[in-house]
Amino acid sequence: MSVNELNSIEPVAFPIPAGVHAETVTSVQHYTDRLFKFRTTRPGSFRFRSGEFVMIGLPNAEKPVFRAYSVASPSWDEELEFFSIKVPGGPLTEHLQKIQVGDTILMRKKPTGTLVNDALMPGKRLYMFSTGTGIAPFASLIRDPETYEKFEEVILTHTCREVAELKYGQDLVAEITADPLVGEFANGRLRHFASVTREPFENTGRITDLMKSGELFKKLGVPPISPDDDRGMICGSMDMLRDTKALLEGFGLVEGANNKPATFVVERAFVD
Ligand code: A2P
Repeated sequence: MSVNELNSIEPVAFPIPAGVHAETVTSVQHYTDRLFKFRTTRPGSFRFRSGEFVMIGLPNAEKPVFRAYSVASPSWDEELEFFSIKVPGGPLTEHLQKIQVGDTILMRKKPTGTLVNDALMPGKRLYMFSTGTGIAPFASLIRDPETYEKFEEVILTHTCREVAELKYGQDLVAEITADPLVGEFANGRLRHFASVTREPFENTGRITDLMKSGELFKKLGVPPISPDDDRGMICGSMDMLRDTKALLEGFGLVEGANNKPATFVVERAFVD
């Protein structure tokens, strides 16, 4: 039996478009009926900054559909990792959710994005606010020693509808803590605050509400956000970005960009 016959998606019937990398899937893990992670080989020439995104597609059409995906692995990793939602009837994710080890993924060559350390002024504490697959760019940044060179404390917040959707983040933080290299930087300085909104859990509620009520700061044992000490990165749905951004502005933080570093940055979790 050939490798292609073992695969779930159609064998490559279309030529690889010019200007894209064709990479091989090395692992796939499904978390829920809405979420999965996959890892691929990394082209030797592909360089990116932790927190950036790339355009991903499948070789299943003459003109493949590409969607933006944050690279969830850190820039030093020899493989690439992605964390994806499964959208019923979604032009890419409908097929992408069926990938198996050995399948081919297309990747455009140029990474980009604003959730990078360079877009923030130095500070004491970095908050990473995420909902759903919005945790992906932070999965990259919390495994990058540079993040800990720039900030004394890193607070990753992850809010999902259900407890099962938190597992990717929970496993990730546990792995980091146990990793001899990254653990050396992260232990005692990386804090993970997970909450859910649609079932009971130790923390419940939208991150915006938990900030408004002060419960987030109380539970973490830190003062409310201030522009002197705190920096923010936000990644989630359009509504979550809008509301979290307004709150950070209320605390006196100012939105920055690659060419104009300031005290917080924003990027939407793309596929929806
Ligand atoms: P909720 O269950 O109250 O809608 P989604 O999967 O729809 O992107 O949602 C992921 C998480 O983000 C859910 O816990 C959801 O809460 C929360 N969320 C949705 N909209 C907002 C918002 N405007 N501000 C903060 N959190 C939000």
